[in-house]
Amino acid sequence: MDLSVRIGNKLLPNPVGVASGTFGYGSEYEDLIDISRLGAIYTKAVTIKPRPGNDIPRIVETPSGIINSIGLANVGVDKFISEKVPHLAQLPCAIIANVAGSTEDEYAEVTKKLESSESLWGYEINISCPNVKCGGMSFGTDPSQVEKLTSRLRALTKRPLIIKLTPNVTDITVIAKAAQNGGADAVSCINTLVGMVIDTKKKTPVLQMKTGGLSGPAIRPVGVAMTYRVKRAVSIPVIGMGGIMTADDAIQYLLAGASAVQIGTGTFIDPRIPSQVLDGIVEYCKREGFESVKAINEVLQ
Ligand SMILES: Cc1cc2nc3c(=O)[nH]c(=O)nc-3n(C[C@H](O)[C@H](O)[C@H](O)COP(=O)(O)O)c2cc1C
Repeated sequence: MDLSVRIGNKLLPNPVGVASGTFGYGSEYEDLIDISRLGAIYTKAVTIKPRPGNDIPRIVETPSGIINSIGLANVGVDKFISEKVPHLAQLPCAIIANVAGSTEDEYAEVTKKLESSESLWGYEINISCPNVKCGGMSFGTDPSQVEKLTSRLRALTKRPLIIKLTPNVTDITVIAKAAQNGGADAVSCINTLVGMVIDTKKKTPVLQMKTGGLSGPAIRPVGVAMTYRVKRAVSIPVIGMGGIMTADDAIQYLLAGASAVQIGTGTFIDPRIPSQVLDGIVEYCKREGFESVKAINEVLQ
């Protein structure tokens, strides 16, 4: 059975990856699961400078999900290249660096530096970050900024360039088209949804940052719907995520039109979920007579 997924000029060995920010730099899970079963590891966001992240509490549980306001805590691009990439390069799966920034120049600088690391498979660009030069409005909410940023990064690399869409917009298809126009090889969706929990005794928000990003099963129907709509708006591959816990959840995304999926919050509950999801997709294909994962995409109109 053909499990491979083409993104730009490269193939992922299978459609099941682990989502940025939920799998560290790979080494954290190495002793727990067989990493070679993963189609890809999307790394924690990499920024130009190291970031300690936001003050605690920065994670709160909600019904069927969690809200995080980690604040892109990471070691910074230089340490990422010198300390994390050499180990990531030994892992038997595609390594996709998740890139974040607070100006277009920062995204470009990080990408330029990462180009020196031969073992990176490609980039996923997190456009849910506030643009400090545009009054803190998220890059991902403005189609003209998305197109401009994408074409700037496109000029810097031949590696697969995936733009990760935020669901916190009026019409996600407009943003997806802007990414395609800028030269993206794929879009991934969705990032987290803005959420808030208030402690009624203390009468204050639980998270230090007040609001954060909701992930987990609570957002799955939103992710599936957005994947479905985005797939019908663009001709490049869509990578779906949000609340995948089982193979059936992932198959919903594949039927909606996703070429590949990512699992985030699920791995916090059970790191074996990505491998179980892959097995379940293969079983589904055999049972339903699909010769490739791609064939699943073509069923639903
Ligand atoms: C703790 C945490 C940290 C995250 N950090 C990042 C990040 O650095 N970059 C990014 O693009 N997405 C980040 N995300 C979003 C996830 O990659 C994913 O888009 C989202 O959680 C939805 O998938 P899920 O419901 O399977 O977790 C983070 C999510 C969580 C829960």
